[in-house]
Amino acid sequence: MKPVRKVVIPVAGHGTRVLPATKSIPKELLPVVDRPLIDYVVNEAFEAGIEHVVLVTGRGKGAIDDYFDHAFELEAGLEAKKKTAILDSVLKTIPTAGALSYTRQQRPLGLGHAVWCARDIIGNEPFAVSLPDVIIDGTPGALAQMVAEYEKTGGNIIAVEEVAKNETNKYGIVAPKGDRSGSLFEMSGMVEKPAPAEAPSNLAITGRYILQPEIFDLLEKTPCGAGGEIQLTDAMDALMKAQPFFAYEYEGVSHDCGDKLGWLKANVSLALKHPEFSKAFAGFLKTTS
Ligand code: G1P
Repeated sequence: MKPVRKVVIPVAGHGTRVLPATKSIPKELLPVVDRPLIDYVVNEAFEAGIEHVVLVTGRGKGAIDDYFDHAFELEAGLEAKKKTAILDSVLKTIPTAGALSYTRQQRPLGLGHAVWCARDIIGNEPFAVSLPDVIIDGTPGALAQMVAEYEKTGGNIIAVEEVAKNETNKYGIVAPKGDRSGSLFEMSGMVEKPAPAEAPSNLAITGRYILQPEIFDLLEKTPCGAGGEIQLTDAMDALMKAQPFFAYEYEGVSHDCGDKLGWLKANVSLALKHPEFSKAFAGFLKTTS
């Protein structure tokens, strides 16, 4: 079985749900406590043993490239002033040379199309997809949990979690096969953003995927689906008919930071765990509520 070495992170989206905050900065650089969103997602991937990150980027997203690069004046200034701890935190953001690739999604044709844009860089091997809106607070991280499952099962695995019945139209929703038991289970299908009355369950796809490269041929043939976009969910539904495909209910808490309330909750929840100021912040919250 080939290992999962690469992750595709689509970062071309406009962040419409968090405007105006994202009018002139990429939503992936919105800070959550003291780091941008993308930093959490990239680190979760490296923790899972991923060696190479493929960012599918777009217009106006150049600041993301800069985030993962050296900033020579800044670093030299911090060094000269002996601000070692800050310098270390800045240097920690830079992956090994050559461990990042960029490709561009030139038109906003949907998540499925964004993933397809990475086909040549991925080649003929299994790969992960991580959506940068979703921070998953888990130990080990959600992708590491999925890679551990993948090493036992092979095939394809997507992360799922329960959502409120009336919110199925915000997510891809899976249909478990028969009576599911345990956290890893097979599915009979999946559908993108169904109305609550049509949803096959309340198990939503959470933005972490391990996929086989055969998905690319299917993506190429996938017509526009929900929202008039080429949906990854539709191609996965087709792949499921030909290959082993599992849903995995990971351990951890997800925060949808592409949504204003979700982003606020992520900040509060992760600030309360931050080693430097969790105590002070908890004290502050008590005085404000
Ligand atoms: C995407 C996927 C959807 C998934 C969701 C998780 O939707 O298409 O299946 O449930 O991410 O956040 P989006 O939020 O990009 O509309």
